[in-house]
Amino acid sequence: NSEPKMMRSVAILIAVSQIAAAQLDSTACGRTKGCLFAPQGCNTGGSCQLTMSYVVDGSDMVFELQGKPPSTGYMAIGFSYDMVMGNDSVSLCHGNNHLLAYNQGKSTIPVNGGTRQSLETSTATNGETYCRIRRGITGDGNPQVFNLDAPYTIFLAYGPMNGAGPGYHQMNKWIMPRQALTAYSTTGGFNPNMSTIQPGANQLPTVRSNEDQLRVAHGICMSIGWMIFLSTGILFARFFRDHLPNTQPGGMKMWFHGHRIFQSIGVALTICGFVCIF
Ligand SMILES: *[C@@H]1O[C@H](CO)[C@@H](O)[C@H](O)[C@H]1NC(C)=O
Ligand SMILES: *[C@@H]1O[C@H](CO)[C@@H](O)[C@H](O)[C@H]1NC(C)=O
Repeated sequence: NSEPKMMRSVAILIAVSQIAAAQLDSTACGRTKGCLFAPQGCNTGGSCQLTMSYVVDGSDMVFELQGKPPSTGYMAIGFSYDMVMGNDSVSLCHGNNHLLAYNQGKSTIPVNGGTRQSLETSTATNGETYCRIRRGITGDGNPQVFNLDAPYTIFLAYGPMNGAGPGYHQMNKWIMPRQALTAYSTTGGFNPNMSTIQPGANQLPTVRSNEDQLRVAHGICMSIGWMIFLSTGILFARFFRDHLPNTQPGGMKMWFHGHRIFQSIGVALTICGFVCIF
């Protein structure tokens, strides 16, 4: 029975080597580097979609990203002054590449950052992708490459590439709490002086992006339009034809008035639902 034993050893070896290849060491989080886990409250083991770590190393920041993007997709960090996409500095990795970018409105455009950013490592194992990006703390004067020694709201996202740039992340975007990215350094560990960040006035955690608001409005319009108004309109036609036969305002029976009003509101809500989503 040495064969099954050997098989088991090989299996354990493979498992260990794969654990070693997933390189974001979350045991160091909060001690020698800052970490953000998305979605918030996820379990560092399996349920996190995207984990990010940050630490100052000399005049650079080193970021790690680990997550479950689509194969050949990207993982991105956005540095934002507020809670909405637009006017954000972006660092992302995809495959064996990286990109320094800027959110101009809702589109992410590559920024020529020269040597401000480099990719140190990138691996993919077991559906988990890991990369380490080094980025200069200062932006070298380019207003689209933000200085990182100020607090930012951090966006984490992954999605497919679309040509040379990142494609739409759909629901795979998480707005993380505001961070002082320079609170951790490779030499001094955690600096508690940096940790007290007063949330800005626009830091309400439940703010939805405009796109999400429109999607919610679409859902509400369609649900109310179809579930309540259109269906009630049909019930008028089906069950109330014989009610109040002698009341005929405008020369039409009551059931038809009810039917027409409910159908009209239902149609209006359906149109509203369509307008919201396009
Ligand atoms: C981006 O936001 C910062 C901070 O509010 C502001 O100083 C800068 O002018 C903005 N840039 C653009 C292009 O809107
Ligand atoms: C934190 O702030 C105090 C008072 O301003 C200062 O004496 C101390 O050196 C600071 N600590 C670090 C690690 O910068």
